Amino acid sequence: MEKYYLTTAIDYVNGAPHIGHAYEKILTDIIARHYSQRTEVFFLTGTDEHGIKIQKTAKEQGMTPKELCDMNAKKFQDAWKALDVDYNKFIRTTNEYHEKTVQKIFKKLVEKGDIYKHAYEGLYCSGCECFLNEKDLTEDGLCPDHLKKPELVREENYFFKLTKYKDAIIKHIKENPDFIVPAFRANEVINQLEDIQDISVSRAKTNVEWGIDVLDDPDQVIYVWIDALSNYITAICYDTENPSEQYKKLWPADVHVIGKDILKFHSIYWPAFLLALDLPLPKHIFAHGWITIDESKMSKSLGNVISPTSVLENFELEYPDAFRYYMATSAPCGRDGNYSDDDFKEKVNAHLANSMGNLLNRTLSMLVKYFDGEVKPEFIEKCHSELVSESLLKKALGAVKIVENHFNHFEIQEAAQEIISVVDMTNKFVTDNAPWTLAKEEKWTECGQVLVTVLEIMCIVSALIYPYCPNIAREMAKQLSFDITTKLDDLICNNIKVGKLIEKENIKPVFLRVDSELADKSQKK
Ligand code: ME8
Ligand code: MG
Repeated sequence: MEKYYLTTAIDYVNGAPHIGHAYEKILTDIIARHYSQRTEVFFLTGTDEHGIKIQKTAKEQGMTPKELCDMNAKKFQDAWKALDVDYNKFIRTTNEYHEKTVQKIFKKLVEKGDIYKHAYEGLYCSGCECFLNEKDLTEDGLCPDHLKKPELVREENYFFKLTKYKDAIIKHIKENPDFIVPAFRANEVINQLEDIQDISVSRAKTNVEWGIDVLDDPDQVIYVWIDALSNYITAICYDTENPSEQYKKLWPADVHVIGKDILKFHSIYWPAFLLALDLPLPKHIFAHGWITIDESKMSKSLGNVISPTSVLENFELEYPDAFRYYMATSAPCGRDGNYSDDDFKEKVNAHLANSMGNLLNRTLSMLVKYFDGEVKPEFIEKCHSELVSESLLKKALGAVKIVENHFNHFEIQEAAQEIISVVDMTNKFVTDNAPWTLAKEEKWTECGQVLVTVLEIMCIVSALIYPYCPNIAREMAKQLSFDITTKLDDLICNNIKVGKLIEKENIKPVFLRVDSELADKSQKK
């Protein structure tokens, strides 16, 4: 594997980011950081800035669409910074290079005969930015996702011959069972494909003016989904005539991380556009579930929309690690998750403070108390020869492979569970071997051996937890004198060297318990 190219959905900028947007960006950042421990990574995210929804919101707020986009795109960028979402590139669909390439892509599809002009009448939901079929609506004729009445649109539009690619896409999905992740969603997509029709790929400027002009036909703007989906290749400098070196290196993407609500666009429309352009398809489409708040759907009318950074502020967290950890472990692969203040507090205190942080802290403290922070040669020799600890170390190294395998299948919660199970196992090892009793009995070698075994495992744990909690992992590694940039393949069992490991004053808790009073305060707000 010589590279890993991954993307998020690009968010609509008609409002500020919320915790659902954050969930996706955190998941993707964790996947990116994990793969950066295995290979070279390119991580793309950005904002989707055209379309009727943004045009309308700008008008309501007395701004130009561009002013609204600039204001909100910055809010997304600031939020990702606060959450340590460390992307390589942020694309905005109003970037000039993107608009130019989208025009060329559209033109190429017209020349190929895959796009044609056709008079049309349909029901358009601006929330989805797409036409809906009568049969998809609720009993009251509303869009099921946005609970709004779609608009009747009568226009002459350009159409894309989606039907031409139907069989090829069905075949691709069936032959590549890991194309759509989780696999249980593939059937949904196959069903949708059965009665697929050609789709409108432009809007009349009289109805939508905030979009990219169709070259040679300035009365039409390009439909938002062609514009938006193309970001995955325009961002890496794809060009219809002369694709760049970067494009050649990175495409096809290894994974598009998206929400389950936009799976149709990514597993039907996008592959069809790519096939029409004679380009290879992405390797995986990973559709994550949705985040609810206290078990209810987030909505402006319910007033329960949570901003990504409000959790950090309410709990006065110095680093986003605990929030990242909580979000990433809120649901099994592809299922819906939930956020609640109480649950957040309980989980991060239990996992990060009590189990993981405390284990490191008390082990280092014992090393200082009994041995003045010094690792003696016999601790290490013994640590690797004694059967009991060797099997424990083997299990910890085995967990690295298990975690990698979970990541290969986008099982982010499951990978974290594996890491915490190593921590639990190690805590049990400490309890069972009671180094404080060994010290009392003056069995110094055995005592040192138990401590060094734990510290070896903590080096591995810091590497494994790094994608979720980069700041905590760095602090752990610092106190262990371990190089946190070590690749997973190079993880070994003798990172702890003979000599002085740490001074008393350098031992610090790596994660402070989340204060329950603060949480109560935030609930009252
Ligand atoms: O769909 N929980 O933008 P968007 C989890 N511009 N994920 C959520 C969520 C929630 N409560 N709410 C939204 C668009 N998301 C298009 C994408 S991609 C070429 C164009 C996710 O701002 C949603 O599933 O409505 C999507 O993946 C992303 O946030 C952006 O949603
Ligand atoms: Mg949406």
